[in-house]
Amino acid sequence: MEKTEKIWIDGKFVNWEDAKVHVLAHALNYGTGVFEGIRAYETDKGIAVFRLKDHVKRLIGACNVMCFDLPYTEGEICEAIKETIRINKKVDYIKPCVFLCGEAVGLNPIGVPVKFAITSIYMGSYLGKDAQEKGASLMTSSWFRPWNLAAPAGAKVNGIYVTSCLAKMDAKKRGFDEALMLNAQGNVAECSGENIFIFKRGKLYTPQVSDSILEGITRNSIMEIARDLGYEAIETEISRIDLYTADEVFMSGTAAEITAATSVDGRPIGTGKPGKVGKQLAAKYADIVRGKDPKYEKWLDRV
Ligand SMILES: Cc1ncc(COP(=O)(O)O)c(C=O)c1O
Repeated sequence: MEKTEKIWIDGKFVNWEDAKVHVLAHALNYGTGVFEGIRAYETDKGIAVFRLKDHVKRLIGACNVMCFDLPYTEGEICEAIKETIRINKKVDYIKPCVFLCGEAVGLNPIGVPVKFAITSIYMGSYLGKDAQEKGASLMTSSWFRPWNLAAPAGAKVNGIYVTSCLAKMDAKKRGFDEALMLNAQGNVAECSGENIFIFKRGKLYTPQVSDSILEGITRNSIMEIARDLGYEAIETEISRIDLYTADEVFMSGTAAEITAATSVDGRPIGTGKPGKVGKQLAAKYADIVRGKDPKYEKWLDRV
């Protein structure tokens, strides 16, 4: 990660070094925050943000889940994100975060002041260039994806990411690139920070939203692109065995983009190399986000 110069906090830009909170900030101790992860890309017509409004809508939805009073409209948030990109020189990832910044001990979040910060960084490849080009190894985690009855699985709430962190850490310590999490029913949910797809017998499948996944914006884009290319894309229950016996497995996420999973729990998937369909979708996605396909201009917001 490469840091940038300025961070937007509650309507003002501050230097990176000055963006600080108190050690008793409620969010720091109890995870009471919500966030987004958004990508910006260079295009022929300048920098464009991919599906900015959809990310902002999801952020506002997460604020509603947490009963945060966010005094900005969708349009104002979009503009603040664009301003943050403009003011900083080298940016490819933007992370807005709304959190309870007030100093408070005790779980009751009611009345604790909220802060809204928009950080931007240069991330480059999230899972590493090697994984992106040659495919990643997945490990099924012993940590389950927090399910809808226990946590707001469909909202990017800071506190529930501790499960993703544990899953990711365990996978990395065992030499895998990424962790796969199952849900309460033992079906495939998603990876620590990505949704998952399989390609099997000519069709594309991805876990359904009711299976305690985050409804990924990249996932949604992939389904639309795949259907436009003539594939059937089906949201359904997926078992671990479906994964082991798939012709292809790949992950989708704003940070990871589209990355093949060439092995799961030490078992090679298909040929053990990134598959044809995943590669086709990844190439199409790479073109779309860089403004090279006019059909999908609707997803780009110029800075
Ligand atoms: C747990 C989890 N699943 C899936 C995703 C992918 O979502 P998106 O494509 O909207 O980035 C993310 C990324 O934010 C995530 O954190």
